[in-house]
Amino acid sequence: MIIAIDGPAASGKGTLARRLASHFGLRHLDTGLTYRAVAAALLANGLPLGDEAIAVDIAHRLDLGHMDRSVLSAHEIGEAASRMAVLPGLREELVRLQRAFAMVPPGAVLDGRDIGTVVCPDAEVKLYITAAPEARARRRTAEILSQGKEADFVSVLEDLKRRDERDQTRAVAPLKQAADAHLLDTTEMDIETAFRAAVDIVTANRAS
Ligand code: DC
Repeated sequence: MIIAIDGPAASGKGTLARRLASHFGLRHLDTGLTYRAVAAALLANGLPLGDEAIAVDIAHRLDLGHMDRSVLSAHEIGEAASRMAVLPGLREELVRLQRAFAMVPPGAVLDGRDIGTVVCPDAEVKLYITAAPEARARRRTAEILSQGKEADFVSVLEDLKRRDERDQTRAVAPLKQAADAHLLDTTEMDIETAFRAAVDIVTANRAS
């Protein structure tokens, strides 16, 4: 079984994907980390983010088992990943890796921006997780503050909107809800409520 989860930044899709995977006994891949890992390698070596040949080469050698979320979650890496995500050759290489991951039994939960539309268009269940930008910015600000770092709601909100705009308007595989995806708007939900709603959607789909 493959569960495809897409949505904008800070929508809660990552937490939901992890919990769904554990609930249904599936493997989990946060595909954002694959873009972040490539961006981090370029940043660390002072290489230009637009160099597609180098990006493809790094992606080709990427080990999905060794992506350190605590390092890759840095804000500047997310920003660089979003900029690099417009490169078609890079996307092609990463999608190849992501599909290979998804195909291994017993199946997987993948979360990202183009899982239901491009990476796994035949997934058994597709979820599109979203929330109002202000709700997402509030959650992201609280998350950063809880890590003992500084965060300002207004700049987090502006940042999220800029990222949404870039991810939704790029020419290749833009963020959008697949026609057959179930929409889950978590604006008014806490994570527990959202998780139960997501489990209900998956269970109903499996039964049908
Ligand atoms: O989900 P995230 O914040 O870790 O993703 C970082 C960036 O990577 C995101 O802004 C766009 C890109 N991305 C993508 O283009 N396609 C995906 N499936 C996942 C992420």
